[in-house]
Amino acid sequence: MMTPTIARLLQMPPSADPVEVQAWVRTKRSSKNVVFIALNDGSTMRNLQAVVNLDDGTITEADLAEVTTGAAVRLKGNLIPSPGSEQAVELKTCAVHVLGPADPEAYPLQPKKHSFEFLREKAHLRFRTNVFGAVFRMRHAMTYAIHTFFHERGFYNIHTPIVTASDCEGAGAMFRVSTLDPKAPPLLPDGSIDWSQDFFGRSTNLTVSGQLEAELAAMALGKVYTFGPTFRAENSNTSRHAAEFWMIEPEVAFADLNDNADLAEEFLKFLVKWALDHCKDDLEFLNKRFEEEEKTKKQEERSEFNLLDKLRFVLDNKFERLTYTEAIEILKNSPPNKKKKFQYPVDRWGIDLQSEHERYLVEKHFKKPTILTDYPKEIKAFYMRLNEDGKTVRAMDVLAPGIGEIIGGSQREERYEVLKRKCEEMKVPTESIWWYLEIRRFGTAVHSGFGLGFERFLMFVTGIGNIRDVQPFPRTPKSAEF
Ligand code: 4AD
Ligand code: MG
Repeated sequence: MMTPTIARLLQMPPSADPVEVQAWVRTKRSSKNVVFIALNDGSTMRNLQAVVNLDDGTITEADLAEVTTGAAVRLKGNLIPSPGSEQAVELKTCAVHVLGPADPEAYPLQPKKHSFEFLREKAHLRFRTNVFGAVFRMRHAMTYAIHTFFHERGFYNIHTPIVTASDCEGAGAMFRVSTLDPKAPPLLPDGSIDWSQDFFGRSTNLTVSGQLEAELAAMALGKVYTFGPTFRAENSNTSRHAAEFWMIEPEVAFADLNDNADLAEEFLKFLVKWALDHCKDDLEFLNKRFEEEEKTKKQEERSEFNLLDKLRFVLDNKFERLTYTEAIEILKNSPPNKKKKFQYPVDRWGIDLQSEHERYLVEKHFKKPTILTDYPKEIKAFYMRLNEDGKTVRAMDVLAPGIGEIIGGSQREERYEVLKRKCEEMKVPTESIWWYLEIRRFGTAVHSGFGLGFERFLMFVTGIGNIRDVQPFPRTPKSAEF
């Protein structure tokens, strides 16, 4: 039976008409002969307060014995004005039915603050906490906002394959997909595995990005985007890396790197504004949490803004744009570099930027989101368009305060001969991506795109510091329990 959600009930006026509500008990407390039950059904951050008057004689203490934190209940009553300042209405209860009790001795979630580490071990129950309710409602809202953004701008959503024979990023950090018997795989005369006998007749993996296929679609449909799971088997046990994460990858025909940077900035601002406009209760809660968390940090590690101010600041300011070469000059002359405070010193052009460098630029130097472009070709993927200098490529990374790299993208190498030479130089196996090269021979055109890490963005917009806490069931090295 469907009953109105708590979100809906809280907006209804007081009335003598009976209503029913089904939800989980957050807390129960009594004062004299009145019992207050806080109910939550996930439809909103807010609880519905149910009031049971034991003096009436209709509901007895025994009826409430199993009404404990975590139990699923159905209550009947009518909405009356609430004397409390927290809510406009509360439920004057006339019937209580326990649908699913939760043994108070065994139920792990108590009405108090639990650590994120503890809650990760209780991932089957952590949805029931305020913070995870807020995070996953926002994850949904942002998904909806992403599709809205692209749909309104004439982009088509393309579903690119999850199982693939190509390695888009060329980093080799892929999960193999195989049905061969690991104990006795078929072998070639030289002793290596004969992948031609595997399910797909070749060696396959889980995709690290849908970009290569999205480019093919953009060369016909014009503006496309993917939004799907991607997998990386890199053994980075950091707060910003997951082995399974979702990526949004727009790809646009006839767009150059400047258009690409404009799109990325417009996109991020649209999403931040959406969050501020549509997720008010959840964001206010997360903002308070963020402020409390910051108080526990050392002065120098504290962020200058609270979460809401940070989001508004991002909305109101133009992103800084500069080249890698300019960034290296700033970093070389920066106080932490001169005082040898960086773990990786910035001593020459050509080094890969580490997250400490990115965060210095964003948080200390510019103090706003920053788009770095035109990186050395050696540290970027094979598909990025080579600049006239022959040394740099039309790459772009968007760096966000508190996170570092949130978007990676580029103008693509659309010239067949240049791309072919690049693949040879970088030892990219072209047999598995012959189609990626061939499309450059038939109506090739300037085009660009980028990938936004969905979880990195969620960390940014919720203020949650660990990627494991913005995914319902995180996949990280040595962890795939749920
Ligand atoms: O910079 P990356 O590797 O770029 C690509 O995959 C391109 N093919 C995208 C494109 O141009 N279409 O990854 C893009 C973004 C990163 O900026 C980061 O936000 C996120 O994906 N990301 C990860 N997020 C969580 N865990 C990981 N292990 C991630 N690796 C990348
Ligand atoms: Mg990147």
